[in-house]
Amino acid sequence: MKVTVAGTGYVGLVTGVCLAEIGHEVICIDINEEKIRLLKQGKSPIYEPGLEELLEKNAKRRSLYFTTSPKEAYSEREVIIIAVGTPENRDGSANLSYVEAAAKDIAEHMTDHVIVTIKSTVPVGTNHRVKELLNQYKAPHLQVKVVSNPEFLREGSAIQDTFKGDRIVIGSACQHAGDVIETMYKPLNIPIVRTDIKSSEMIKYASNAFLATKISFINEIANICEKLGANIEDVARGIGLDSRIGDKFLQAGIGYGGSCFPKDTKALVQLAGNVKHDFELLESVIKVNNHQPLLLLQKATDIAGDLYRKKVALLGLSFKPNTDDVRESASLVLAKKLLENGSIVSVYDPIATDNAKKMLGDHVIYCTSIDEAIRGAELTFIGTEWVEIKEYPVANYKKLMKNPRVFDGRNCYSLAEMKRHEIVYVSIGRKAILQQM
Ligand code: UDX
Repeated sequence: MKVTVAGTGYVGLVTGVCLAEIGHEVICIDINEEKIRLLKQGKSPIYEPGLEELLEKNAKRRSLYFTTSPKEAYSEREVIIIAVGTPENRDGSANLSYVEAAAKDIAEHMTDHVIVTIKSTVPVGTNHRVKELLNQYKAPHLQVKVVSNPEFLREGSAIQDTFKGDRIVIGSACQHAGDVIETMYKPLNIPIVRTDIKSSEMIKYASNAFLATKISFINEIANICEKLGANIEDVARGIGLDSRIGDKFLQAGIGYGGSCFPKDTKALVQLAGNVKHDFELLESVIKVNNHQPLLLLQKATDIAGDLYRKKVALLGLSFKPNTDDVRESASLVLAKKLLENGSIVSVYDPIATDNAKKMLGDHVIYCTSIDEAIRGAELTFIGTEWVEIKEYPVANYKKLMKNPRVFDGRNCYSLAEMKRHEIVYVSIGRKAILQQM
């Protein structure tokens, strides 16, 4: 099938590359010339395991092509997928200007009947609005159908999620248009859910809101466990084995970040507000999440006193492991708060340092190893559970830090091990180890 993907961010690029891999002729278009220049050289502008190999392979066999030209990208196509960003407006609602600009471009340059598929996360009702825009700007003799097809990819495992996803959601008003999209995905052999357009749009928001709720819920239980002397890991295992609850997304920590959960939860609260529904539950989920990194900081000041002028290490900057993405990272919330408190902050991340530099500037000391970051520090915070951090020999905290006190926002180590090494260790939802050396 001749497919174009508009937008080469995480979603667009992964989708384009994977569709080429399953046999389609794919063009990816972006307005960012630098990105397209890199992609044409076979280089991925984002870090995503397995992506560059597939990109190179499919570009070589000419099933994948990159361009900035709408004329090239939108003529003689059967399916055009919109996967551009929908950043957050000041009031928390989704900014649809990129989606609308892409729709206008498509309408002005399409040369055949086409199915426009919206993958970007958009508020309920947007597909209909895009259809109106397409109809307004297209040539009268051409036909355009709109299909909603939300994505559920996780950064860091996006390729695997595309090939082994739990479901593909296709929302359409026209049976034939939905059938064409179903056929496009057929080689993936993933269960398909067919719905109307609005339900499909809602599935995306409801999924992310539910997952965010699960995280804030387990974080609240963790906070209570700490006060009552229970252990969140045992509790999570105990509830997760109930198949109605499920054992995923029950990892307590300093909260969720990334490009989706924070933005989509706020957008859903807005969306509900627009129809005069007060989404109190989701508002609480957001509030709990905003508070979660601050609680760890509070525990640190309770133990170590004022952090002013203290040398503090922060390990992990990305919003989760296996990505260089620092958007809405809870770890960066910690970094900024530590700086506000006047701490001298050394940071280390295996791959997200360059992106973190854009947010933290030269206010922190960037280190190239865990050893370097923690050497001489009075406190260490852990913000991301990278394998490298989880496997770091804990004896080194005692050896290298001035005062071995670890505040672990991701429960990377076992309590017994930290006790054995006589390290002050405070984690999430577990007993604090406050031994004094
Ligand atoms: C998410 C959704 O999972 C995906 O379906 C959607 O399409 C985009 O948003 P992503 O943002 O890549 O994907 O990351 P995800 O792996 O879901 O993690 C999100 C955040 O939740 C991370 O900050 C992670 O640290 C946190 N998290 C996740 C927890 O704190 N505890 C958990 O148990 C799981």
